[in-house]
Amino acid sequence: MSHVICITGVTSGIGKATALLFAAKGWKVIGTGRRKDRLDELHNHMGDAFLPLAFDVSDRDAVFENFSNLPAEFSAIDVLFNNAGISLAGKPVHEADMDDLETMVKTNINGVLYCCRAVIPGMVQRGHGHVVTMGSYSATWPNPGTNVYSASKAFVQLLTYDLREDLVGTPIRTTCIIPSVTQTEFPLARMKGDVEKAAKRFENLDPIQPSDIADTVWWAVNTPERLTVNEIRITPTRQTYGAARMYREPYIGD
Ligand SMILES: NC(=O)c1ccc[n+]([C@@H]2O[C@H](COP(=O)([O-])OP(=O)(O)OC[C@H]3O[C@@H](n4cnc5c(N)ncnc54)[C@H](OP(=O)(O)O)[C@@H]3O)[C@@H](O)[C@H]2O)c1
Repeated sequence: MSHVICITGVTSGIGKATALLFAAKGWKVIGTGRRKDRLDELHNHMGDAFLPLAFDVSDRDAVFENFSNLPAEFSAIDVLFNNAGISLAGKPVHEADMDDLETMVKTNINGVLYCCRAVIPGMVQRGHGHVVTMGSYSATWPNPGTNVYSASKAFVQLLTYDLREDLVGTPIRTTCIIPSVTQTEFPLARMKGDVEKAAKRFENLDPIQPSDIADTVWWAVNTPERLTVNEIRITPTRQTYGAARMYREPYIGD
């Protein structure tokens, strides 16, 4: 029997690259996202090894309904990759659109909680499983304009450590992937669909590619079960550690 991975947010970027990699290695893939047309494209490409599920991860009823009605051949999930996430606003909290801020909380925090709550009980029952979460490098230090996004990812990171605590004594493993700038459609949401502005995020940086993260997830999941890769931090080589930015007047640089 082939293994089953469930990846949230497979309609682009990291999720899509991970779905394609695991399918190529012979795994069955449950892939979720809101854009049904893109799920259908993947289904055409991957065939019966792919189960497309179109729902919004921030919709609690939809999450539980979808996970409680899985076809038998996809029901024993070995790996849950909580990948779906969004970054909006790009403004100070006191100026940002409240809907944008709430969407990040609902998607990046509630969405992860719902999927964990729906899928982990089956793993505990079967005595086998791996929960991979998607943190962010921006959750470690404050960044200009990413406030609530960063805070939501700090939640995900700490939740991953707490899941280890919850699951200690079971063979279930947890891994938080903590990447920095990865070349995907990710900045488009914050730039309100402005492709040129979004592309600037990647200029002259030689950013991480989605396939790099897919390879990392593949490695973490396929390590011997006696060990847990608790977290992995990845940056472009051209990026260094964050440091407190200082504002001086007149401005003389950081
Ligand atoms: N790219 C980076 O620089 C970077 C760095 C650190 C961490 N990350 C994290 O990596 C993860 C993947 O992002 P990416 O870079 O691959 O971006 P992406 O290309 O924009 O992909 C995001 C995925 O999340 C899904 N998604 C977003 N909101 C959703 C919702 N409410 N319900 C269901 N699915 C939803 C999207 O699908 P639909 O739109 O079809 O729903 C899409 O498949 C995110 O958690 C992101 O925070 C990215």
